[in-house]
Amino acid sequence: MTTSIPTPTKRELAEASMRRSWFPVARLCDLDKPQTATLLGVNLVIYRDGEGRVSVQSRRCPHRGGDLSMGEVHRNSIGCPYHGWEFSSTDGSCSRIPSLADQGKIPPRASIATYPAVERFGHVWTVLEDPIRDMYEIEEWQGLDLEWLAAEPIDSSVGVGVTIENFRDVAHFPFVHKVSMGPTPEVVEPLSVNRDGLDVWMDRPLDAGSGDWANDGNCMMRYRCSAPGLASITYHYEKLGRRIVAGFPSPIDYEHVKIFWGVANEVGYRGADLEECLRVEEMVYLEDIPIVEFIEPREIPWDSEFQEFSVPADLFTLNYRRSFTELMNRVKDGSHVNEFV
Ligand code: FES
Ligand SMILES: [Fe+2]
Repeated sequence: MTTSIPTPTKRELAEASMRRSWFPVARLCDLDKPQTATLLGVNLVIYRDGEGRVSVQSRRCPHRGGDLSMGEVHRNSIGCPYHGWEFSSTDGSCSRIPSLADQGKIPPRASIATYPAVERFGHVWTVLEDPIRDMYEIEEWQGLDLEWLAAEPIDSSVGVGVTIENFRDVAHFPFVHKVSMGPTPEVVEPLSVNRDGLDVWMDRPLDAGSGDWANDGNCMMRYRCSAPGLASITYHYEKLGRRIVAGFPSPIDYEHVKIFWGVANEVGYRGADLEECLRVEEMVYLEDIPIVEFIEPREIPWDSEFQEFSVPADLFTLNYRRSFTELMNRVKDGSHVNEFV
């Protein structure tokens, strides 16, 4: 008798592809003490050890389940707050058991899972399983000397896909962002959207004379998203230089994200300082969340379980879905890249 392997649903592929993609789990500015995160149901501790290395590890002590984020950080290990067992910050092996007279008797399999840790864009990034994509490299940021300011993360009870689509959707501005952006046209001009593999981008002018940005002069905006979880706008002002806002929703579970996000100015930017840029962008975010949180379903209906209709203003969104689908196909085909940064 032969048994056939059931074909995975697109939702299952979406989840599997996120387990193999990079997400932020902490802000670099918070690493003066251990941080906690839950990434797709996996509880993590994130800390900088005494030698300055950032570690992302499982949070549960394998002795009796102590929470390692409450423990003490040593030169190259983290200690459990309960009985003081210490685990290496580089490979998670148990390096010391205080109650044991002979340290040679440490149970050889007593260890904690250790995940890759990359410091980028003001955050610590990790990936749970064999990566199917490289860590994000954004073309228009190459060669720029950027200073990042990581914002207070925002909790939102929708998935990564819905969050990214909101961030880069243009037809909602006149409805959701009346206050922060001022009056903006309802009709969306034909969008010129480009896609290359996992990356989608388009350029749009921001006309001076509307909203909070009125005094900054004309600007070209590069909208970008990179599947599954990075969305950004790079503003290039004729008069001032470049500034960036970027969002990185990190899935606590499939339908619940912690939105890490931040702003960056190129060194020498002549417009508002980082704190002011962050304040303005936060207003925009806080207008979105109450609307987005009630979207049904809470993640993209990959398996067409809900009917949706699209119009030309949705072209960017549709291309993001294509790029996410490409990621899912990599999981399905077993193709992968495995280059840590
Ligand atoms: S529970 Fe962690 S050392 Fe005992
Ligand atoms: Fe918005």
